[in-house]
Amino acid sequence: MSQTTAAKPLALVTGASTGIGATYAARLADRGYDLILVARDGAKMEKLAAELSVKTGVDVRVFPADLTDSASLKSLEQLIRDTPAISLLVNNAGSTLPGKFNDSDADAIDGLIRLNVNSLARLSRVALDGLQKHPQGAIINIASVLALAPEISGPVYAASKAFVLAFTQSLQVELADSGVYFQAVLPAATRTDIWEKGGKNVDDIQGVMEVGELVDAALAGFDKKERVTIPPLQDENKWLALDNARKALLPEFLQSHAAPRYR
Ligand SMILES: NC(=O)c1ccc[n+]([C@@H]2O[C@H](COP(=O)([O-])OP(=O)(O)OC[C@H]3O[C@@H](n4cnc5c(N)ncnc54)[C@H](OP(=O)(O)O)[C@@H]3O)[C@@H](O)[C@H]2O)c1
Repeated sequence: MSQTTAAKPLALVTGASTGIGATYAARLADRGYDLILVARDGAKMEKLAAELSVKTGVDVRVFPADLTDSASLKSLEQLIRDTPAISLLVNNAGSTLPGKFNDSDADAIDGLIRLNVNSLARLSRVALDGLQKHPQGAIINIASVLALAPEISGPVYAASKAFVLAFTQSLQVELADSGVYFQAVLPAATRTDIWEKGGKNVDDIQGVMEVGELVDAALAGFDKKERVTIPPLQDENKWLALDNARKALLPEFLQSHAAPRYR
């Protein structure tokens, strides 16, 4: 008797060569996802792909790409268009700028925005056409608690993460009927190479989460279809209070006249 095996779901993870992205790849492989891994370091991803295939039996494809490079980004977009089986996009690739804004190189600022903001928005747009055809289509966008706390971070990085949060929240409303689930994940300090790359010692930071715990918590939020997942936040009501206070402001903005204090 012939037996047909159901196709595995397929996830594309950016920034999958190390850190949070590599951990997402491992956890999704454990959940039976075939994978497309994207980052610049092809050798690291090939090694991870081989390990995950042997361990879990899933199919792992590697797509080396610099997401700040417009030609590379466009070829990844074409791969996404050509691969309608993708049902989950994890927009995780991101980096920081070392030093203070005043000392930053203008091209480095541009590069950070192209990676953290531009590539995330473009990949989301291109992926959506296929994702809407999947009953379980989803996008996970990795933001940061710094989206809510620009005072304690570099201006460009914090603003890029505020973009990721606002972008995801707006998609949740605009595409509410699309069947696609959008999750914003806001990690706080998590032990990965990003700290060293940004010229900081992670051991100088208080309250650093291990990357496995962060991703497991984020996936628990994904399973619950949370809109915004903040793994380190112990009292969820504090986020809900902030979000509700923000939403309560919205009708107040619709006024034909300026407030008396400006007249
Ligand atoms: N760790 C934290 O404390 C923390 C906290 C909040 C939010 N986050 C966010 O979590 C995400 C993952 O960060 P992480 O901590 O895992 O950092 P990480 O260990 O430095 O990993 C970053 C990943 O992004 C990839 N990447 C960097 N530049 C790229 C480019 N130009 N093109 C393509 N891929 C690129 C890197 O791979 P290649 O170098 O091989 O390209 C790597 O796979 C980021 O969006 C970060 O902002 C991290």
